[in-house]
Amino acid sequence: MAPTAAPIKTLDKEGREITTVGYTRFGFDSEVSLDSLRSLYLRPHYVLSANDLNSELDSVQQDSGHARFTREGAAYQSKSIYHPDTQSISYTTLSRFPPVKLLPPSGRKRILVTGGAGFVGSHLVDRLMLLGHEVTVIDNFFTGSKTTVSHWIGHPNFEMVRHDVVEPFMIECDQIYHLACPASPPHYQFNAVKTIKTSFMGTLNMLGLAKRTKARFLISSTSEVYGDPEVHPQTEDYWGHVNPIGPRACYDEGKRVAETLTYGFQRQDGVEVRVARIFNTYGPRMNPYDGRVVSNFIVQALKGEDMTVYGDGKQTRSFQYVHDLIDGLITLMNSDESRPVNIGNGDEFTIGDFAEFVRDVVEKVQDEDGVKRERRVNIVYENLPMDDPQRRRPDTTRAKESLQWQPRWTVKMGLEEMVRYYKAKMAEGSL
Ligand SMILES: NC(=O)c1ccc[n+]([C@@H]2O[C@H](COP(=O)([O-])OP(=O)(O)OC[C@H]3O[C@@H](n4cnc5c(N)ncnc54)[C@H](O)[C@@H]3O)[C@@H](O)[C@H]2O)c1
Repeated sequence: MAPTAAPIKTLDKEGREITTVGYTRFGFDSEVSLDSLRSLYLRPHYVLSANDLNSELDSVQQDSGHARFTREGAAYQSKSIYHPDTQSISYTTLSRFPPVKLLPPSGRKRILVTGGAGFVGSHLVDRLMLLGHEVTVIDNFFTGSKTTVSHWIGHPNFEMVRHDVVEPFMIECDQIYHLACPASPPHYQFNAVKTIKTSFMGTLNMLGLAKRTKARFLISSTSEVYGDPEVHPQTEDYWGHVNPIGPRACYDEGKRVAETLTYGFQRQDGVEVRVARIFNTYGPRMNPYDGRVVSNFIVQALKGEDMTVYGDGKQTRSFQYVHDLIDGLITLMNSDESRPVNIGNGDEFTIGDFAEFVRDVVEKVQDEDGVKRERRVNIVYENLPMDDPQRRRPDTTRAKESLQWQPRWTVKMGLEEMVRYYKAKMAEGSL
């Protein structure tokens, strides 16, 4: 028998149950059911033996309706079966895709997502596909992976192209979400020159495409443009405090020049532009080994290892759940707001407190699943890397006023989903 998941109840910041994400705003409907989204990343069936798979396939053949595919909320992922005896994994292709909205041609947009195989990009792709649009992903798979969007490969509304944005790319499209850029310090510092090239030349190429096709262009900028800020919280009018020659500069200055280019094309060529300054975001599909604090803590706690805090743990961060970010990106794209907009969650934690919080959530999920722990993991402190900002918190007044957007997810609810996702990955043998 395949393991089944207990129903998950998710409450928002006001204590109301979240059953859908997104909304209709600025004439664009971005609402989808949370269960549909979850069926694309949470895997209750994560350890299927070959025998289990055969009995599952039998039940599929006997089933004429659609219900089988939504039962247990996990059937829309290309299935992977881990064979512990040979330490191998086999994949099956999907026989049916998740149902997507049927839009009239006038409502269906051709949307290009660069970096669509990455963490944020894949969630954006899921949403846009469920909403019934035609989505093309271009990605060089530097940090992203085909597996994040494999459940859409072959769908008539979906196209995946291996391409580096540093080279020009031609396609007809109505909207461009330009996300391609490594986002975590180990990855963007791996080849600093390439990171700057991606930010500058990649953005130049995509803006050129937007100009040629008259597509609307949204860039995923970052709170890193504020550097180690001298004002708290950061509003969009703050110009930042960035070390231009430090190890983080390839990313921070890359994004700053990408913003400059974006507004250059707006002024000179009339390109319709949107600039999202994204603050720390976490969620399922985040690369577990890219050194970001949320994934580091969860993986260490799940593995029973000590959790590492860099510095004295007094530096603060705020964390936003990925579904809130996607709501914000889609709303911004379809709004009339062309100024930069902060998108983030203002709930601030010291890193030390956050480590304890993550440990509690991991223990809660382990208890629910009946996992026995040998001991409580310890929290240990190590030296802070250079140029690590002391404090970062978004002022999201602009997003609230001009997009009517505010984060709905509590950090606890988001963390629970992410822990379940990583736990499944561990059981599957891929973490
Ligand atoms: N996740 C966050 O907390 C956060 C915060 C601020 C800004 N952002 C921005 O959001 C975007 C997505 O971030 P993410 O967290 O999903 O990171 P990610 O590394 O998971 O995704 C980036 C994607 O871009 C692709 N890519 C990188 N260089 C490329 C190139 N030259 N050509 C084509 N594809 C390329 C990668 O393969 C990957 O699929 C980035 O632009 C990042 O700067 C993210």
